[in-house]
Amino acid sequence: MMYILAPSILSADFSKLGEDVKTVSDAGAQYIHLDVMDGAFVPSISFGMPVISSLRKTTDRVFDVHMMVEEPGRYVNDVRKAGADIICVHQEACLHLDRTINQIKETGARAAVALNPATPVETLSCILKEADMFLIMSVNPGFGGQKFIPYTLEKIKKLRGMLDEAGLTTDIEVDGGVNAANVREVLDAGANVIVAGSAVFKNDAAANTKEFLKIFEEY
Ligand code: DX5
Ligand code: ZN
Repeated sequence: MMYILAPSILSADFSKLGEDVKTVSDAGAQYIHLDVMDGAFVPSISFGMPVISSLRKTTDRVFDVHMMVEEPGRYVNDVRKAGADIICVHQEACLHLDRTINQIKETGARAAVALNPATPVETLSCILKEADMFLIMSVNPGFGGQKFIPYTLEKIKKLRGMLDEAGLTTDIEVDGGVNAANVREVLDAGANVIVAGSAVFKNDAAANTKEFLKIFEEY
C-alpha cells in the first residue's frame, strides 16, 4: 500500500500560495489538496478554477481537487481543464452519482467520492468498483483547523473491510483534523491518503511535511 500526504492549501498563506505549494512539493508531499467551496454545499467560499490553473504552473504534483459544491457535475470539465488529476465529489451533492463518476473518468481524471461524517459508508456499496478513491471526512466540511471526530475511525475500518471483501485495494483518503499525533490511528484504521491543512501549514511547512512522511515509513 502506498502512503500519500496531501497538504490542504486552505491553511496556506493565500498571498503567497505558489511559494507554499512549492515548499510542500519540494519537501516530498505527493499530492496537493485543493478545497473548492461554493457557499451553498458548505457555508464558506474558497477559490475556483483561476487559482487552480495558476498553481498548476508551479508544481507537477498530483492535484487532488475536493469539490465542496452542489451538483459538482456542472464543473467537472472546467476543473479538469484547470489542472485537476483527481476530482473528488460528495455523495451528498450528487443526485446522479454514477453519472458524475463517469463524467469525471471521461475527462481522463481519477474519480473520488467523499462522505460527510454523518453519511454511512454503506451508501457507497453500489459504486465500490467505480470510484478510484474514497474520501472519509473526519470533520464537517467547510473550514480548516477543526477537531477530528473520533467515530469516523469506525467508518474507515468498515469501508476498508468492504473493499477487502470485494477484492479491491482502492485508496481511502481522510480529511479533517489530522495531525502528527493522531495520524497513526487513521492509518491503522485503513486509510492511506492523508489530508492535512493546519497541521502542515502552521509554522514550518517543510518540517511538518517531512514529519508526516517519516511516520508513513513505519507502515
Ligand atoms: C475542510 C477541508 C479540509 C481542510 C482540512 O472542509 O475539506 O481539506 O482544509 O484542514 P485541517 O487539516 O486543518 O482540518
Ligand atoms: Zn478537503
